[in-house]
Amino acid sequence: MNLLIRGGRVIDPANGLDAVADVLILDGRISRVGPALSPPGGAAVPTLDATGRVVAPGLIDMHVHLREPGQEYKETIATGTRAAAAGGFTAIAAMANTEPVNDTRSVTDYVLAEARARGVVRVYPIGAVTRGLKGQALAELGELAEAGCVAYSDDGRPVMHSGLLRRALEYAQAFGKPIISHAEDVHLAEGGVMHEGFVSTDLGLGGIPSVAEEVMVARDIALAELTGTPVHIAHVSTAAAVRLLRDARARGVAVTGEVTPHHLLLTDEALRSYDANCKMAPPLRGKRDVEACREALADGTLGAIATDHAPHALTDKEVELDQAANGIVGLETAVALCLTHLVRERILDLPTLIARLTVGPARILDLPGGTLTPGAPGDVTVLDLEQRHTIEPARFQSKGRNTPFAGWACVGAPVATVVGGQVVMLDGAIRAERLG
Ligand code: DOR
Repeated sequence: MNLLIRGGRVIDPANGLDAVADVLILDGRISRVGPALSPPGGAAVPTLDATGRVVAPGLIDMHVHLREPGQEYKETIATGTRAAAAGGFTAIAAMANTEPVNDTRSVTDYVLAEARARGVVRVYPIGAVTRGLKGQALAELGELAEAGCVAYSDDGRPVMHSGLLRRALEYAQAFGKPIISHAEDVHLAEGGVMHEGFVSTDLGLGGIPSVAEEVMVARDIALAELTGTPVHIAHVSTAAAVRLLRDARARGVAVTGEVTPHHLLLTDEALRSYDANCKMAPPLRGKRDVEACREALADGTLGAIATDHAPHALTDKEVELDQAANGIVGLETAVALCLTHLVRERILDLPTLIARLTVGPARILDLPGGTLTPGAPGDVTVLDLEQRHTIEPARFQSKGRNTPFAGWACVGAPVATVVGGQVVMLDGAIRAERLG
């Protein structure tokens, strides 16, 4: 696939580039980035005019729940990848908490085959750490790596058994894959529906204390240090977890972290609405935690923004708060929310935001994309920083409508998503049924 993207402000953090330029994609790969490019030999190449817009490497969401196989009423690989394309993501990593769990080659094969047949963006499966996510015996780690898994995670559940996690880290090293930790001590979190603090006391709701996350982050860092295998902490949400990560990274421990847009933008005050769309794991925390996460994102302690896209059906959410499923959708809101509430409010500069959505996750998962370096996959996201719109769940490509951001006014949006030189989303419309 060939494409010439003309005249945009090209921001490629991996190469320190921020300049008006053209991007030429030939045979599905980045060929050149520079002023006034033309295809070799004057060949006719489709053109995308990006004048007045920002051209970034294709965005990567390293934490997505696609729900297929097994919970197709919540999301499928087809709808989840359309949601990704609509949200400006050219690649997503798919968590293993499906039914069956992605703990064997056959499930990984299925996810990859379905993504090839019906997906519109790249899908990188994540295999389970333990069989059935039960935390009792290791999954087939070697087989999963061979089948194409890029990391291991029991996300949705922690691996509570520290001895088993140690073994998993030792095995994972042989396959060169990191382990992604859902850092939550289930005993400390037991009975909680929201962050433990003033608001939970005020509302009389069971709390999940910050230490439930912090003891596990401390343990995971200790095991990463012992084994030398990289550990990535999913959805970091507390100030002390950030501090632990910053200290460990300064000592050279192979540990990384991600943060979600909702943990950057909302606090536990949102629970005063009793809206189940404000319930997730980890829970929305306090103001100081949000500030710490923002600082850590800016200074690189947290190397990635990931959505933890967790689609649920109405029936999973429209129940009492303690019965409601955890999680919110994020693929179609993340970029607009971050542009509006982080970049416009000068909490993060635009190149740093783009870095945390591209080269950051690419390095953590050792993925081929995340830059516009010649030879890289021809994946590009075009952003319009001025586009005004209101978040309307009814218009999502995702089957999930579970978001606390409905009705939020945003300025800035992805307007084109290009995968391997193919325009899969233009002005909000999905243009490709399959990658081919
Ligand atoms: O809120 C969440 N929902 N957090 C998780 O870790 C899992 C996810 C899900 O699978 O719904």
